[in-house]
Formats: sequence, C-alpha cells, structure tokens
Amino acid sequence: MSEVMQIGGVDLRRLAQKVGTPFLIYDETKVEQKLQAFRHHFVHPEFETQVVYAGKAFLCGKIVRMVHEAGCGLDVVSGGELAVALHAGMPAGHIVMHGNNKTPQELTAALEAGVGLIVLDNVQECRALAELAQRLQRHVNVLLRINPGVEAHTHEYIVTAHIDSKFGVSAADTKGWEAILKTVEASPWLHFRGLHAHIGSQIFEPQAFEAEIEALGALSKEMQEKGYSVGVWDLGGGFAARYTEEDAPIPVEQVCKTILNACCAQKAALSLDVQKVMIEPGRSIVGEAGTTVYTVGWFKSTPGKEYLFVDGGMADNIRPALYQAKYDCTAVDAPNTPADHTYTVAGKCCESGDILIEQAHLPEMKTGDLLAVHTTGAYCYSMSSNYNHLGRVPVVFAKDGRAELVIRRETAQDFVRLECQEALE
Ligand code: LLP
Repeated sequence: MSEVMQIGGVDLRRLAQKVGTPFLIYDETKVEQKLQAFRHHFVHPEFETQVVYAGKAFLCGKIVRMVHEAGCGLDVVSGGELAVALHAGMPAGHIVMHGNNKTPQELTAALEAGVGLIVLDNVQECRALAELAQRLQRHVNVLLRINPGVEAHTHEYIVTAHIDSKFGVSAADTKGWEAILKTVEASPWLHFRGLHAHIGSQIFEPQAFEAEIEALGALSKEMQEKGYSVGVWDLGGGFAARYTEEDAPIPVEQVCKTILNACCAQKAALSLDVQKVMIEPGRSIVGEAGTTVYTVGWFKSTPGKEYLFVDGGMADNIRPALYQAKYDCTAVDAPNTPADHTYTVAGKCCESGDILIEQAHLPEMKTGDLLAVHTTGAYCYSMSSNYNHLGRVPVVFAKDGRAELVIRRETAQDFVRLECQEALE
C-alpha cells in the first residue's frame, strides 16, 4: 500500500492542488538542523568562530530570518543580495560582502549599511573602497581574498599554482597582495583583519580543507613577518550535499573538527596571530532540504529512450544542463512502489539539453502524476531563469504539518510589469 509523499508533515498532492506545479518545497526542520549542526560543531577553545551562510545558494527573507535566528551570519555577493538581507532584518554587522567586481554603488551600499566585513578582491577595488570610505567617513573591516593554489572539485583536489583564477590574489603573488595591504594600511578607514579563501564546491575530501589551511598558514606567516597581523581566517564554503546515493558528504561534525584542528595545528606550528575562524556553507545548509515537485505531462518513446516530460525543467534547475549534475526522484503518489521502469525526465524548455534526469528509476508513471526531484534546495532557485517565460516557481516552507508560501509564483503579470515605453533621448 502506497501513501502519498509528505515533506514536513505536508501532503505533496494536496499542496500541489493549492499552489500548482512546479513548486519548490523546503523541509524547514532540515534547514534548522543543518544550521544548528554547524553552529554546534564549529567551535574550538582556541578560536572565536563564526558560521556565515552563503546566500547565493538560496536567498529570500525567510531563509535570512532563519539564519539570523540560528546565530549565523550571511555572505552576500551583490547589492541585490545585500538589499534582501537588510530588508529581512539581518544586522549589517553580521553580513560579509563578497564579489570580484563590486561596483562603486555596491561598495557604497555596503559602507552605508555598515557591513561587518568586506572581502577585497583586487587592488583597484581596494583603492576605490578607501576613497569611498573617506568620502562617507565610514570605518570598515576588510579581509583579503587569497587564491591559495588549492582547487577542489567533488572527489578530487589539486594543489597547483592555479594562477589564472578570476577570484582574489594568488598567495604566490607577493607584490600583488602587498600592494593591497599597503593601500589598506594607508587608509584610516579600512582595517585589515585577515584572509579569505574558497577552494571549490561539493567537496568530499577533508584533505582539501587541510591543504587550504596549510596554504593560509604559510601565507599568514609571511605576512606576519612583514608586519601584517592576520587575525581572521575565512575558509569559504564547499561542503558537499547528498544528491544521489553515490554521494557521501563528510558529516558536519567531522568536517568542522578537521578544519578547526588543522587551524589549531597551523597556529601552533607557525606561531600565528589568527584568533577567529569563519566558514561559509551554502549548499550543505539548504541543498538536501529542498525538493521540486512537477506534474508529469506527455511521454515519448524513441529507439533509445522513454521520455517523461515534466512541467518545468532547466529554467528552474539549470544544474544538470550546466554541470551534468545528477538527481534522484520519487513518484509522489507511489513512493513505496518498486521502481521497475527507467525514464529520461525531460523539461519543457526549447533546448535539447533540457534533461533533468537521464535515467530515473520509477514505477510506471502516467500523465497527471506528480514527480518529486530531491536535493534541489541549493543553486536551483537562485540560478533559475525566465527562459521561455515559464515563470519562476513558488517556494514553500513546511514544518510540523504546516506549509507557508514564502515566494509566490512568477506570472504573466510579473513578466509585463517591467515593460515600458519610456523616451530616453
Ligand atoms: N563562499 C564563497 C566565497 C563562494 O564563492 C561560495 C560558492 C560559497 C561560499 C558557498 O559554497 P557552497 O558551500 O555552497 O559550496 N553554482 C554552482 C556552485 C557555485 C558556488 C560558488 N561559490 C552549483 O550549482 O554547483
């Protein structure tokens, strides 16, 4: 006997009748548990620690409030993300501002809001920030984004000079980072606090973080010897989520321990000044908590494939097309029925690459059934597009049998809302 699939105690079929499909639903408890797990385990007697949620993974007022309530900070990468964060009540002092090409407007907004940290990417930006801070008479704490020469991709990581990254300054480019530190030093408004690095995403190898920390240790030592005190290490994000059963992310407790012990060992071995360690998890907080629910439309058999079409696709989840990302799915109305069919789940966008799952193992499906695609909580909504004007999906948070709509569906009215006929010249 099959029951209808539920999330947060909410029946997905009933919810589909209320909000239509496709929709994205978050299990609120899972998000809370992840935030708590990071908060609980990312502690060490040697350091002040801070967990900063990377808003690029998924951002809206609801998640900002949850992050704040859990005692975490927020990482933003644009004026838009900053505005959403402030609007939702995140104290500016808990916000970290990132970006390799922050505009003068974005830097101004960050200064005016009084963000806790701005992460400097390059020397031009640093000069512009010093000028703006002077003009606005605002003090600001800064980190320097370093490219540590460690690059991690899922199950592999490489230690290379990797000198061509668009982010930050290479640890090996002494002249480059010195120029920035001197600019900071020359400004009475900018205050150098430490280093930031981010080595990749969906990382399964704890050794990759250890390599990152070693690189930061060596560089901090070099800086210290030149008279610059590095008090903060912000190690970025990259903690993996489980998309399919092949994925085995490092448990939060273990990855936090590995990181903090490695920091402690570096600090002791090199007599470093570092007092505070930060991390910026994004995907690992929201990824597994999210599920996208589609309605099954038509089917098509080709010599090699049994297509099952759904009423969304690459507009709401670009990750399979962009990264060959793998997803699992469940038949909402028959979650316990044996999966004896193999379908290629394709979206409705005008693009051959609009395939969500190449080989989905499901019971026999029919038109009108609901299909739940798992682990769509990170980088799906935030990377969604208006391609083919399908309309961005609504977002629901569910907990203890209650469901709350936190972002409504984008409709034709929204498409035409921005249109105008305004003479400019
Ligand atoms: N901090 C910085 C500076 C970052 O650049 C990122 C992600 C994070 C934190 C959060 O990383 P996470 O813990 O979520 O891995 N669109 C890609 C992921 C791009 C990640 C970019 N930076 C995807 O869908 O897989």
